Amino acid sequence: MDTSAQVVKALSQVIFSKRYTPLHEPVFPGNELAYTKECIDTTFVSSVGKFVDQFENMLADYTGAKRAIAVTNGTAALHMALILAGVKSGDEVIIPGLTFVATANAVAYAGAIPHIADSEETTLGLDAVKLDMHLSKITELRNGECFNKDTGRRIAALVPMHVFGIPLDVDALLAVCEKFSIPMVEDAAEAIGSFYKGKHCGRFGKVASLSFNGNKTITTGGGGAILTDDDDLADLCKHITTTAKTPHKWEYFHDMVGYNYRMPNINAALGCAQMEKLDAILASKRTLAEKYTAAFKRIEGIRFLTEPDGCKSNYWFCTIILKKGMEAERDSILEATNGAAYMTRPLWTAMHRLPMFENCPRTDMSVAESLEKRVINIPSGAGIIGV
Ligand SMILES: Cc1ncc(COP(=O)(O)O)c(C=O)c1O
Repeated sequence: MDTSAQVVKALSQVIFSKRYTPLHEPVFPGNELAYTKECIDTTFVSSVGKFVDQFENMLADYTGAKRAIAVTNGTAALHMALILAGVKSGDEVIIPGLTFVATANAVAYAGAIPHIADSEETTLGLDAVKLDMHLSKITELRNGECFNKDTGRRIAALVPMHVFGIPLDVDALLAVCEKFSIPMVEDAAEAIGSFYKGKHCGRFGKVASLSFNGNKTITTGGGGAILTDDDDLADLCKHITTTAKTPHKWEYFHDMVGYNYRMPNINAALGCAQMEKLDAILASKRTLAEKYTAAFKRIEGIRFLTEPDGCKSNYWFCTIILKKGMEAERDSILEATNGAAYMTRPLWTAMHRLPMFENCPRTDMSVAESLEKRVINIPSGAGIIGV
């Protein structure tokens, strides 16, 4: 049997549904309808209502962050996180080449330039060793801040991303941040429910962002959040994401340029119901990952991506990686699986290959370019096993 047929067979051993199986369908097993109906019944569907505070408290409790601020989406959350970390127009921000375009876009929204770095094969996250070597060559410290000697620009932040919810090597990247005096801002968009050595992803830098888009582990329809342990930053975040309006019974006064990034109450209502079921959703996704691990073990040249030792992944997107040399088989696997009603898809096109970012500074990108040709996401929703 060729590899494509073996992959289809492995999927059929895990997924019993007879209908088309999407990559990640949301599940609504709890109070989703009741809470959103409450918003409609009370008319509080928009910027005022109890669910936003409640959702923020639930997120802070769950992640262990001191504060969580709910916003309209994960891209807005990362945009805010970068601003809060002090990123200014004309700065450079280190991001992985292997990420969803929102990471690079958020850097551009802040007026900064993505500095694109390579990933490593085990977790698909930023390669700390390669980055260390690169920064040693091209940077210098000026008054305690890191500058790119080639471009003259300040490197104002480093944005690790936990790819598909698999925690990357946080300790190694924190050491790089420390060595080069670069603040860490985690893009934890894909990582609600993922833990690195017992601590929730998104709790390692000064600020971090989460996403609750419809395809994420839990969803608010569209939504995101900023996590931080710094009360002053959290207060500032709330202020600038709610148009920077100073509190007053009737006056409309805004003390700076703010953003209309506040999460509406009806979305937060959905989020509260989803948070109540997060553990059950994670358990179901874990069972799915275990079944996939067993099913793909039998296929020569294919690795099912699993969490590193000491870490817990939310298994947001289940992922298979073809061995080097099998690049030519990727498209036939995608054809065969999609043809058999299992939605699968390749990795994102790496950021340095997109037209708007192709001239950005970068490291050697050989690993990302190789992974791009070998990684496939397979159906991952909690509904496959059931909640
Ligand atoms: C790595 C990454 N960053 C940022 C985002 C942006 O989140 P959103 O779609 O909620 O804007 C996403 C997901 O969509 C993502 O996967």
